[in-house]
Amino acid sequence: MNILILGSGGREHALTWKLAQSKKVKKIFIAPGNAGTLNLGTNLNFSPGNFVDVKNAVLTNKIDIVIVGPEAPLVDGIHDFFLKDKALVNIPVIGPDKSAARLEGSKDFAKEFLIRHKIPTAAYKTFDLTNVKEVPAFLKTLSPPYVIKADGLAAGKGVLIIDDVLEAERETTAILNGKFGSAGDKVVIEEFLKGIELSVFIITDGTSYKLLPEAKDYKRIGVGDTGLNTGGMGAVSPVSFADNIFMEKVKFRIIDPTMKGLADDGIVYKGFIFFGLINVGGDPFVIEYNARLGDPESEVIIPRIKSDLFDLIEGVAKGDLSAREIEIDNKFVTTVMLVSGGYPGDYENGKQIQGLDLTKESLLFHAGTNRDGDTVVTSGGRVLAVTSSGATMKEALEISYRNAALIAYDGINYRHDIGFDL
Ligand code: AMP
Ligand code: GLY
Repeated sequence: MNILILGSGGREHALTWKLAQSKKVKKIFIAPGNAGTLNLGTNLNFSPGNFVDVKNAVLTNKIDIVIVGPEAPLVDGIHDFFLKDKALVNIPVIGPDKSAARLEGSKDFAKEFLIRHKIPTAAYKTFDLTNVKEVPAFLKTLSPPYVIKADGLAAGKGVLIIDDVLEAERETTAILNGKFGSAGDKVVIEEFLKGIELSVFIITDGTSYKLLPEAKDYKRIGVGDTGLNTGGMGAVSPVSFADNIFMEKVKFRIIDPTMKGLADDGIVYKGFIFFGLINVGGDPFVIEYNARLGDPESEVIIPRIKSDLFDLIEGVAKGDLSAREIEIDNKFVTTVMLVSGGYPGDYENGKQIQGLDLTKESLLFHAGTNRDGDTVVTSGGRVLAVTSSGATMKEALEISYRNAALIAYDGINYRHDIGFDL
């Protein structure tokens, strides 16, 4: 089989790395990929958002399956684009169609879905310019801090957590007036849930599903979970509090009702579902759905999948996932994300990276890198995910940090406390 993976981050490198180990996979193409995927397959230089380029690449390279890494092409309807095109209709796309991807693409849709199917989530109300006058009254029903979310995709910047009620009102109005463009045509205001977060993943063919390993990611730039939000500064798997009792609750209160809800609503979902959960006093609540795998979570969960991931993907494509097996490794896997100086604010690209061949104990998943002649240079805020395994989380982290210290580039920054809270 020839496969095309869309995306360019650590998630896509981890997918490429895993799928390259499958006996069933012949050639892997990655669009646009990075300097890490280059060693495992063929990078194609176009953006996944350009569906016509995707089509041409699929036909030219005789692609049998397309795997979509990031959310934007899914929310924009790449799956539907394939279904509507005679030349592409028989090529499976791993990732939901536009209607199903609304679970991530519209927070209002996701909240309505959660409430309709009685899945635990924070109390909320949705506003637009027609009912914005009711915002102060609704905020009075909540206690601070207030969680304000732009309805649509806002490049990870669309969630604000605000202590002051007047500021919460002002920000709601600012979002409705275009602060995040059309992503803010609606705003979801919700109750703040206090607890520790957990990322849970399934792969589904629309009828059955397999549970993948869970992970915890570290979103803030600073030590002790302080400072600005980032795409993710590191991750660990497994997660100590996600024991059997907790995961049973996740299955019966969240995953199974989500699968049943999709079926009841007539939504056929093929791909990965990422449940962004929060553990409130031992009970899981859904904070968000994502229509894809997480990043940097992929960098720790994929190395724990012992079985052939392509076999599961083929199960999604053929609709016989229930007949496939998944085997998970009990080992601990950790990843430490090396980022560019200045990230998540402004930063410079093109910094030469040294030490890539020294990190023999860790897997290096490239996140934002490019090859420039004989050298590898930075090309994004998140640059490299230093991923390690161990018998304990501590051992895995020690290896990640020992190897992170061997990498050098101008402005290198990373968190030294991944896993600190577990
Ligand atoms: P999201 O983009 O929906 O993942 O939200 C970004 C972050 O905001 C989450 O990872 C949480 O840390 C936080 N968050 C979102 N919703 C809530 C909530 N209802 N209560 C507490 N924290 C939240
Ligand atoms: N690490 C969170 C995400 O991928 O959205």
